[in-house]
Amino acid sequence: MSTDAGQKRILILGGTAQALNIARDEIAKGNDVITALAGRTEAPTLPPGRHRIGGFGGAKGLARYLKEEGIDLLIDATHPFAKTISENAVLAAQQSGIPLKTVTRAPWQAEQGETWLKVADEAAAAALLPAGARAFLALGRQHVALFRSREDCHFILRVVDPPIEPSTDSRWQWVIGKPAQAADTEKALFEAHGITHLVCRNSGGTAGYAKLEAARMLSLPVVMIERPLSNSSRSGTASVSDNAAKSKR
Ligand SMILES: NC(=O)c1ccc[n+]([C@@H]2O[C@H](COP(=O)([O-])OP(=O)(O)OC[C@H]3O[C@@H](n4cnc5c(N)ncnc54)[C@H](OP(=O)(O)O)[C@@H]3O)[C@@H](O)[C@H]2O)c1
Repeated sequence: MSTDAGQKRILILGGTAQALNIARDEIAKGNDVITALAGRTEAPTLPPGRHRIGGFGGAKGLARYLKEEGIDLLIDATHPFAKTISENAVLAAQQSGIPLKTVTRAPWQAEQGETWLKVADEAAAAALLPAGARAFLALGRQHVALFRSREDCHFILRVVDPPIEPSTDSRWQWVIGKPAQAADTEKALFEAHGITHLVCRNSGGTAGYAKLEAARMLSLPVVMIERPLSNSSRSGTASVSDNAAKSKR
């Protein structure tokens, strides 16, 4: 619903640093911004402007919300690996007739001196690790189940929220917190845990890049999970400030 003097009401599908930047930019332009968060983390960084937490009930639910709230523009700024919500955004825009802008970050590219072992998914990543590896999983706990079968490896998993119960498996250790922005901090973490391999997703953007710089400093191989195919069309359409600083990242 456009209100006074061309102000637009915008729904941003968020959950990323990029979405926070977009919300800030749109508010600065005088627009009315609502950011939607899935509610996966206990204490998410709240965006400027209004926000709502929780799913919409599929594409139909999202289309209904767009209509009911008088949204003029839907912006999909979700993580490149968040497949379902992006598919729902396309369908909801079609069903509601409300325009959709999809923004993302270019995938990272291997730099000189980096060893990337590219894989399609978590299953392939788990299979690739050599026996005895001490792997740092920068994946989120909902994506690590397939690594449990590797009883010959040791895993260090970084999670945002503390686990409800401590790990009873000595092969698994938790690191609580968000990715550090400084490569030296990530390097110190990898050294402290004797990491031999970094396992991560090719998310792109600056927020999670320090771990790759740290891996390069320590000459650690990176098991890089490439983007899901249906989201590959999002790969090259970066258009926001998160990308601007580091064009190759
Ligand atoms: N996947 C990752 O690796 C990753 C990494 C960092 C941040 N994130 C962020 O975490 C959130 C969830 O990611 P995911 O991979 O679990 O998503 P997903 O599998 O694509 O989505 C599953 C369901 O969660 C709900 N949902 C997802 N994102 C939402 C949002 N921004 N606002 C409201 N509802 C949302 C939707 O439920 P309904 O169908 O009920 O609407 C969606 O169908 C996203 O906001 C994403 O940007 C994801």
